[in-house]
Amino acid sequence: LTAEKEEFWLFGYGSLIWKPPPHFDQRVPGYVTGYVRRFWQVGRYQDHRGTPEAPGRVVTLIERSFWETLDDHHPSGSDRVWGTAYRIQPDKVAEVRDYLDIREINGYTVHYTDFHPADGSPVIKTLVYIGTPDNEQFMGPQDPQKLAEHIYTSVGPSGPNKDYLLCLEAALDGLSPESGDGHITDLASRLRGIEKRLEPVPSPDQ
Ligand code: BEZ
Repeated sequence: LTAEKEEFWLFGYGSLIWKPPPHFDQRVPGYVTGYVRRFWQVGRYQDHRGTPEAPGRVVTLIERSFWETLDDHHPSGSDRVWGTAYRIQPDKVAEVRDYLDIREINGYTVHYTDFHPADGSPVIKTLVYIGTPDNEQFMGPQDPQKLAEHIYTSVGPSGPNKDYLLCLEAALDGLSPESGDGHITDLASRLRGIEKRLEPVPSPDQ
């Protein structure tokens, strides 16, 4: 008798969108509901482009019912948080779970949530890592301009924090015509404004 193994699907809404986990055999664009994506989590410096003394910022999902109790500067926008679901090869599930726990668990809690594929195919139950408010790394509402400035100045061994923001913006653009996130595009345009002010383009004769 062979026990049927449950499929293991993972939902990525941050760097996992453009940096897939190992050993996936299906990659599906789509969305989850009931959450709001915010750049309100202190990053781990190894992965997220700051230093232990000055860590960068990364995204987390906040339960919408909790988010509604907060004083946020950004409107909620759509009820959909777009990202990518990955199916992990059945024989590699244990290995990938270990890898993810080491890589991601710092400050994140595991949730299971329904994922809606963009092409309308049936809902998939996905595992998702969420930086919940009881984690030390959760920051809560941030002033958007100060946040963009912090992202602009955070640089660590794995590169600039601003690359994380700009890669996320570009990766979201690539998922679907509807997959934009107002919070992310607002921060990215503030970042471009800061860059423009602080890094003037040299004139042709220089
Ligand atoms: C993500 O890319 O979706 C992600 C990565 C690590 C922790 C939480 C989310």
